[in-house]
Amino acid sequence: MNELPGADSGLRGYDLLAAQLEALLAGERDFIANSAQFAAFLFAELEGLNWAGFYLKRDEELVLGPFQGKVACTRIPFSRGVCGAAARTRSTQRVEDVHAFPGHIACDSASNSELVVPLLQGQRLIGVLDLDSPLVGRFSAADQAGIERLVAIFLAASDRLEKSG
Ligand code: SME
Repeated sequence: MNELPGADSGLRGYDLLAAQLEALLAGERDFIANSAQFAAFLFAELEGLNWAGFYLKRDEELVLGPFQGKVACTRIPFSRGVCGAAARTRSTQRVEDVHAFPGHIACDSASNSELVVPLLQGQRLIGVLDLDSPLVGRFSAADQAGIERLVAIFLAASDRLEKSG
């Protein structure tokens, strides 16, 4: 595996995670391989998560992709849940308390807050990245900005995902 920059690089927080993710994905452009690595990286590096992974667009549905955490719902229609809202609106959903979110899908009853970032290749929606936490209000505006930056690095480092609807 590529040597990842450590805390001794002088970088901190999302600057360090961005440099580590770039090193992790360097030399590989396969979408599935990189999305699997990215999910594992986020799950290992971010504190307070109980699930990190992808739902990929197939027609007007989201289908489970690479993830870390407990088994999850396999298909999510665009009309449902936080993931569906991110796909429909093509905008990040940062939910402090999922129990207050209409239509939230409780794959794991331990989840209390959630961040879902849409994945866009040009104008095309290819899926979403979903992060869940047992902590209420786990994701700050700074986390949202940091994770959106990591998603941009992942997308730039990966070839187009073919066969999505
Ligand atoms: N809670 C999500 C569903 C996916 S799982 O949490 C992994 C939602 O409401 O879209």
